[in-house]
Amino acid sequence: MIWSEKVVIVTGGASGIGLAAARRFGAEHARVVIADLDSAKAIDAAKTVKAAGASDAVGLACDVGDETQVEATVQATLKRFGRLDVVVNNAGVMIFKPLVEVTRDDWMRMLSVDLLGAFYFTKQAFLNMPDGGAIVNISSVHAVETTPLVAPYATAKAALLSLTRSAAIEGTPKNIRVNAILPGAIDTPMLWENPNVKSGVETVDPAAVGKPEDIADVILFLCSDEARFVQGAAVRVDGGRLNRL
Ligand SMILES: NC(=O)c1ccc[n+]([C@@H]2O[C@H](COP(=O)([O-])OP(=O)(O)OC[C@H]3O[C@@H](n4cnc5c(N)ncnc54)[C@H](O)[C@@H]3O)[C@@H](O)[C@H]2O)c1
Repeated sequence: MIWSEKVVIVTGGASGIGLAAARRFGAEHARVVIADLDSAKAIDAAKTVKAAGASDAVGLACDVGDETQVEATVQATLKRFGRLDVVVNNAGVMIFKPLVEVTRDDWMRMLSVDLLGAFYFTKQAFLNMPDGGAIVNISSVHAVETTPLVAPYATAKAALLSLTRSAAIEGTPKNIRVNAILPGAIDTPMLWENPNVKSGVETVDPAAVGKPEDIADVILFLCSDEARFVQGAAVRVDGGRLNRL
């Protein structure tokens, strides 16, 4: 894989895991688009991705839960760089409420960002990616085991694994690979702002907290030629957290 010829979109790339992934692709000299809700942070992130070695990097404002904005982001990428080889569907949000307080609006927002955002980008990728493209969906260990108060998040992350399987099946004849990662606890703002972690409802052993770079390395691998036989996989990267009784 000659990364300097490749174009990568990372959603939610202005912070945490997405920023680490964007920098990792930058270190391989790829051209990187950071698509984030926070446009000022996305523009700043693009500077650090260039400093990491990217051939070029740009930050674009995009709410992944809005299909029109997703389409515009892909069109802006194609206009600037002429191609699209990799999408990392990383943008995500959480809400914390007991089920009796969760509203329809809560569900719609959560599903829009954490599930449909990945669908909108997958659709655009299938329409625009050349042979050999790759998509990585950032799910969570909450897709398979969870805690109280996060039902819409856990549901969206589980459904994202299902979307990954379906997209992999439809991607195979196009030679586009689609895989998912289930991160465990990763040292990002999302982890430490999590009220369940703050209150102890979800216990996090500091020794079992990974770095955003631990996920970024696996993302890069899944998009590389070395992963050519990895299709529709759900790769848990949690330092072994879910193995313990
Ligand atoms: N940190 C963890 O412990 C952990 C564990 C498992 C899964 N994850 C998943 O990893 C992904 C990244 O999480 P993180 O910890 O790096 O979070 P983070 O809060 O550090 O970064 C998330 C980024 O997504 C952006 N974003 C939010 N809503 C958006 C939208 N609608 N459109 C575009 N961008 C949007 C934010 O502006 C932010 O830059 C999320 O999908 C999260 O669910 C994180």
